Amino acid sequence: MARKICFINYKGGVGKTSLIVNTAAALAKMGQRVLLCDFDTQSNASIWLMKLERWNKVNAEGVGSVYSIFDPGRARVRELVVKDVVEGKAGEKLLPGLDLIPTTFNLVDLENEYNGDPKRPH
Ligand SMILES: Nc1ncnc2c1ncn2[C@@H]1O[C@H](COP(=O)(O)OP(=O)(O)OP(=O)(O)O)[C@@H](O)[C@H]1O
Ligand SMILES: [Mg+2]
Repeated sequence: MARKICFINYKGGVGKTSLIVNTAAALAKMGQRVLLCDFDTQSNASIWLMKLERWNKVNAEGVGSVYSIFDPGRARVRELVVKDVVEGKAGEKLLPGLDLIPTTFNLVDLENEYNGDPKRPH
């Protein structure tokens, strides 16, 4: 059975991202399959885990990020998953079992959209 673990703290700079990334990596090393869903507009966990050029592409094109989950019809959740996300220089899989749904900076637009339009379904 899948378990969901959520890391939330309203205080800044207290180690949320470090804890999330390392907990996910530790679980994957223990043989668990892990899907890290990054809902942080800062994108630090996604940038940390993905190859930067790949994340830059997702960020620039606005396709393939968690943003699409909130935009019905744009993408299926399964299509957003970057499988075995941690890669070495030659593309070798360094942490099999750790998958990521990345986020990008445009998630902040969504926050504004939701705050600005009370009719939009939550
Ligand atoms: N256990 C730790 N011991 C010492 N330093 C730590 C530890 N965990 C995180 N840090 C450092 O603290 C700083 C903030 O960590 P991190 O970015 O994980 O926090 P955050 O809560 O995600 O911040 P933000 O609110 O900006 O998203 C970083 O420089 C990180 O390297
Ligand atoms: Mg953080």
